[in-house]
Amino acid sequence: MRTLVIGTGGREHALAWALSRDPAVSEVHAAPGNPGIAEVATLHPVDPLDGAAVAALARRLGVDLVVVGPEAPLVAGVADDVRAAGVACFGPSRAAARLEGSKAFAKEVMRAAGVPTARARVCTTPEEAAAALAELGSPYVVKDDGLAAGKGVVVTDDLEGALAHAAACERVVVEEYLDGPEVSLFAICDGSTVYPLQPAQDFKRIFDGDEGPNTGGMGAYTPLPWAPPGLVDDVLATVLQPTVDEMARRGTPFAGLLYAGLALTSRGLRVVEFNARFGDPETQPLMALLASPLAPLLHAAATGTLSDVPPPTWRPGSAVAVVMASKGYPESPSSGDVIVGTETLSVETDVHVLHAGTARDAEGRLVTAGGRVLAVTAVGADLADARAKAYEGVHSISFPGAQWRTDIALEASRG
Ligand code: AMP
Ligand code: GLY
Repeated sequence: MRTLVIGTGGREHALAWALSRDPAVSEVHAAPGNPGIAEVATLHPVDPLDGAAVAALARRLGVDLVVVGPEAPLVAGVADDVRAAGVACFGPSRAAARLEGSKAFAKEVMRAAGVPTARARVCTTPEEAAAALAELGSPYVVKDDGLAAGKGVVVTDDLEGALAHAAACERVVVEEYLDGPEVSLFAICDGSTVYPLQPAQDFKRIFDGDEGPNTGGMGAYTPLPWAPPGLVDDVLATVLQPTVDEMARRGTPFAGLLYAGLALTSRGLRVVEFNARFGDPETQPLMALLASPLAPLLHAAATGTLSDVPPPTWRPGSAVAVVMASKGYPESPSSGDVIVGTETLSVETDVHVLHAGTARDAEGRLVTAGGRVLAVTAVGADLADARAKAYEGVHSISFPGAQWRTDIALEASRG
């Protein structure tokens, strides 16, 4: 099978890497990719948001499968363009990607499907926002309705701050605060069949102890030794399958990766958000532990034949990804800082450096080119072992101003 991965981040590096070691895959291409992805794929300088250009590239390369990584092209309808060109595409249609593209739409689907989520009010005026904040109470949760790259959500005890965020957005969803640990559960879907992956956990805040501003994600691990038994079956029955069924009923089937961001609250599980693509950085440790070949799963999902292939299986052990971010992230990430030390790590040692915001400078040196620079991903016998290997990897890499959290998977590794 010939494959083409669209995107440029750590998630796309993990997906391209998993495809490259799948015996069924003869070629991996990526657009636009990054220097890490270039180690496992042939890169093509095509704009991921340009559906016509992506479809033309897929046709020219004669690929059997396109995998669209990020949300922006999905919400823009790039998967529709690829399918219209007669090429199988893993990634939901523009209509189905609204589950991520509009938080108000996602709430409406959850209501119709009976999926447990936070009570919420959609507000377009300051008066409506003030009334919703008073009704739902503190801590206040105010979400920009549209795509905001993980930065559209404000959770605060400060009413003024909550009102200010609402005023700064055109349309917001104000919702009740959800307590309890968060879980990322991903499912491969073909519009009707749903195959959940192992649960993972992401660390969204920039600093240790969940302090500081939200980021795209500073680290992740899988599986979750503390997760209640039956969690995956429970989420499949109460969240994933009802949502996929409701989308099919509406005539906009969801085929692609459905990402349920969940809170395990004192009153039971609740959906925090849906995303319409693999999560970043959770995909990095998940791909490190995936035992089944990836291409047949994604191809079957893209062609409505998921029940013809076996569900994914997993290697024993644990995987941990620690993100190294650039100086100034998330407010004002620095770029062009020279990165050293990535060459010494390799999959053979079970420590893998997955590139996100990296580039080559004029002299061919590896430099930073974005907020999240790399995710050092390690596999170990258990979380403590995987953590130790990942941090050993982090300490062998350096660039000016590098930032990372020291507590990724720490609490979970202590049992
Ligand atoms: P979202 O973009 O919806 O995933 O929100 C980003 C982050 O904000 C989530 O991962 C949570 O940590 C936090 N968050 C979102 N909604 C809520 C909520 N209703 N209660 C508490 N925290 C939330
Ligand atoms: N890990 C968070 C996200 O991918 O949105």
